[in-house]
Amino acid sequence: MQVKQQVQLQHLNTLNLDVIASHYVQINQSSEIVEALAFAEQEHLNVLILSGGSNLLLPQHIRALVIHLNIQGITVLGEDDQTVTVKVGAGQVWHDFVLYSTKQNWFGLQNLALIPGLVGASPVQNIGAYGVEVGEFIESVQVYDRELKQFDTIAACDCHFSYRHSIFKDYPQRYIIVSVIFRLLKHAELKLSYGDLKQAVGDELTAENLQNQVIHIRQSKLPDPKEFPNVGSFFKNPILTQVEFDKITQQFPNIPHYPQSNSSVKVAAGWLIDQAGWKGKRLGPVGMFHKQALVLVNYSDATLVDVQHTYQAVQNEVKHKFGIQLEPEPVLYSEHGLIQSHQS
Ligand code: EPU
Repeated sequence: MQVKQQVQLQHLNTLNLDVIASHYVQINQSSEIVEALAFAEQEHLNVLILSGGSNLLLPQHIRALVIHLNIQGITVLGEDDQTVTVKVGAGQVWHDFVLYSTKQNWFGLQNLALIPGLVGASPVQNIGAYGVEVGEFIESVQVYDRELKQFDTIAACDCHFSYRHSIFKDYPQRYIIVSVIFRLLKHAELKLSYGDLKQAVGDELTAENLQNQVIHIRQSKLPDPKEFPNVGSFFKNPILTQVEFDKITQQFPNIPHYPQSNSSVKVAAGWLIDQAGWKGKRLGPVGMFHKQALVLVNYSDATLVDVQHTYQAVQNEVKHKFGIQLEPEPVLYSEHGLIQSHQS
């Protein structure tokens, strides 16, 4: 384990923000976590866990120990007639694991192809796309529990997975995810319910074709972070009560919406931002993407302050037009490496 000082993190966050970390360490095996935490304690530093950097907002200077998780490995733990159980290191690239699973004829994750980031981050915000959320295929999550100072396994039912949420968001400083144990299907059950996916897949009802169509749809509207630095959907789709929804549809009957199981209604943030005139609009170096208004892009050397100016302007205009408060998806960190609440 080698701790480096004054490390540039620009290439380690997909929004490409210019960020200097006072202390940085890359961890390749779980045993090094204990060593890294002891170092942070001795130096009186907070700890910031860095995964794929695709869902976080960092200030220009961070005085903390940034722990970059790079634990690799894919191991089959067991199988029965219906399922296979696979343990995957937190540092494995998510999309590569999805492609690998399809090659092995393990089914379930195909709708989640091309989501940026690493496997270890997938349970944190319960990544989801095209009608599937990763929590459906997680059996348990292996963690280091900083409160109890021990390694532990959290069963999926205790992870409290919901829309872009889990226990790991409730207790962000407590758990360091070491690996994720997936239970995948041996017989394909293709989920084609979302939007135009069924039409795109057509008659070729194979998992590989489903995966390819998801990749194609994503590439056609979501910007490649290498070309247009971004963190995916910047805002969550707001969830309204039935009463709030009824009120808004009187004025805006075309609002795209998805009824939820508990009688609330999810509405499309991308549509709200688009209707508020922000699709393809910029404020300084930061703007909302011209093909998908939900994605915020760093067009040239933006800092966190530039990002905040833009997203707060978007929040204010959506609030003014629709009375809805948009909530950012990425996690915001302070200069001391602590998670902060977003303020508009
Ligand atoms: N829309 C517009 N204008 C826009 C963007 C969207 O009018 O600029 C409308 C669309 O026409 C559609 C509706 O809004 O009627 C929803 O748009 P879309 O189907 O593109 O999906 P989304 O709700 O914007 C969500 C996830 C994505 C995920 C897709 C596909 C959230 C916040 N976003 O986007 O997740 O890939 O569905 O399942 O839930 C991510 O989290 O980073 C992410 C990309």
